[in-house]
Amino acid sequence: MTTSHNRVAVLHGVNFDILDRRDPEVYGGLSLNELEMKIKAWARELGLEAIFFQTNSEGEFVEYLHQLPDLADAALLNAGAWTHYSRAIADALDVAGLPAVEVHLSNVESREDWRRDSVFDGLVLAKVSGKGPDGYHEALDLLARELGSVDG
Ligand code: DQA
Repeated sequence: MTTSHNRVAVLHGVNFDILDRRDPEVYGGLSLNELEMKIKAWARELGLEAIFFQTNSEGEFVEYLHQLPDLADAALLNAGAWTHYSRAIADALDVAGLPAVEVHLSNVESREDWRRDSVFDGLVLAKVSGKGPDGYHEALDLLARELGSVDG
């Protein structure tokens, strides 16, 4: 059942505009548009409306987070490399105050040590990593439960 609190902003950070040019062994070879189409369909099945944003500019990402409470009810973030060092983005997410889930296509725990750190620790409901596009489905499911758009 669709509720009025069902808008999920799906934010992609730096280098996601060229997702299809990144190592297919690590990121799967799909384009951002293909990934967003999957997310949109999964969201719809869960009674959610997905809206999308991507930028390579940290400042624009922060400014989008400033607007987030007017745009959406929850957030699904893959901030790419910013995940590992941008306290500015973490502070802006904190101010937004919406339920959020962090997703990574690759398994950030099993790569370089620096990828294990996340500025979103303590700010997000969950971190889903290493499940490829399916991780977004899992994240949407968590957010749908949080927003009450599905039973569970
Ligand atoms: C990523 C993992 C990050 O460490 C990396 O910098 C990315 C993509 C992922 O989806 O696996 O850009 O967030």
